[in-house]
Amino acid sequence: MDKYNVLLIGGGGREHSIAWKLGQSEKIGKLYSAPGNPGTAQFGENVSLDVQKFEEIADFVDDKNVELVIIGPEAPLVAGLADFLEEKDIPVFGPKKAAAMLEGSKEFAKEFMMRHNIPTADFAVFSSTDYDDALKFIQTKDTYPIVLKADGLAAGKGVFICDNEEEVKQRLLYIKKDSSLAEAAQRLVVEEFLEGEEASVFVISDGHTSHIIHNAQDHKRIGEGDTGLNTGGMGAYSPAPLLTHDLLERVKKEIIEPTITGMQLEEKAYFGILYVGLMITKDGPKVVEYNCRLGDPECQAILPSLENDLLELIIAATEQRLDEKSIQLDNQYRCCVVLASEGYPGKYEKGKKITGLNDTDDKAFIFHAGTTENAGDIYTNGGRVLNVVGSGNTLEEAIEHTYANVEKINFDGCYYRKDIGAKGLKRIQN
Ligand SMILES: Nc1ncnc2c1ncn2[C@@H]1O[C@H](COP(=O)(O)OP(=O)(O)O)[C@@H](O)[C@H]1O
Ligand SMILES: [Mg+2]
Repeated sequence: MDKYNVLLIGGGGREHSIAWKLGQSEKIGKLYSAPGNPGTAQFGENVSLDVQKFEEIADFVDDKNVELVIIGPEAPLVAGLADFLEEKDIPVFGPKKAAAMLEGSKEFAKEFMMRHNIPTADFAVFSSTDYDDALKFIQTKDTYPIVLKADGLAAGKGVFICDNEEEVKQRLLYIKKDSSLAEAAQRLVVEEFLEGEEASVFVISDGHTSHIIHNAQDHKRIGEGDTGLNTGGMGAYSPAPLLTHDLLERVKKEIIEPTITGMQLEEKAYFGILYVGLMITKDGPKVVEYNCRLGDPECQAILPSLENDLLELIIAATEQRLDEKSIQLDNQYRCCVVLASEGYPGKYEKGKKITGLNDTDDKAFIFHAGTTENAGDIYTNGGRVLNVVGSGNTLEEAIEHTYANVEKINFDGCYYRKDIGAKGLKRIQN
């Protein structure tokens, strides 16, 4: 087979950057994105499939001679889309349900790390019927801050860092009452608070061989100086100045290798992208969480640095040939700034016309997230609207090139943080 027809599941900034990278591949045939966005449409065809209806996806694959399905977001992975397609002999890139539990259940992830001596915060798990025991446990421990986490997928809204007993009580009540957390919080993980700075490492694995693709740091809070409400992510930069060569070697030996081997030993071979969220503490790197996919917006900051043909890499993974591959990076820094709709992560308006998309220079890419096209014009259609990713020989230059291009784009109520990357710069300058 020379060329591969690919179906890419997802429609955010992450998927636009994946589609852009797949578009450069020698091996790409026709690319379909479901649902996609105006960005992915530049590289193929957007199709409106209901990704919760697995049968619909399998029929589409059959109908259009799709030879590979790439799953971007976590929800279909945790729901078992990869298992379903594999049973139908459809090649798919993404972990099976049992392996995606590393993200789908924080309890599973923590206990897995215990079993395999992977460094992470101390923890205890309680069920929703014994939150009183959770409170007693925390009172006895009497160490603050303390971290409460809903076990299941909660779209970034299931983690609470509490500074005192009163806050713990309030949070426990809130978790009990909030219907949107009901399912995720059937189990509750109580975790020791880790002091340090966070960074993420992205790994591709075929079940036994794994390679680090790259690393990044992100900014999750809405406000400058990492303040205010949590969001899906307001920006990222890559690589993380925090992660020295020695630290990365430790991450590989103490975390990534035991994770991949551990999953193999437990007969849940991890196949796909593994995102390792780390806290770099004074005792070394510890796992904050695993995700079973590329992060958004970290993906947009790291894929432009990857020199490998992404589709070839993914095909090698689906054929258990990752041992033949090595990762090539271009050694540039990248900064990604998210342009959001005013009001996000709360209520916001849609349908604002976006201007300046064609005025950007060759030092930056624009990846679409929440946008829509109408009669040749692009309009806002979500909370996180666009990603501007600039590159440079240094982090400082990458930040400069990014913001120079951010300023060319406009829409009514455009909000973005002006300090993306500042945390990384501070580390370099100190
Ligand atoms: N044990 C911990 N110590 C300190 N901070 C933590 C700890 N666990 C989580 N956090 C903070 O909370 C954020 C969200 O937690 P995480 O486990 O990544 O959950 P999710 O991404 O599913 O919401 C982390 O990025 C980190 O900033
Ligand atoms: Mg997280």
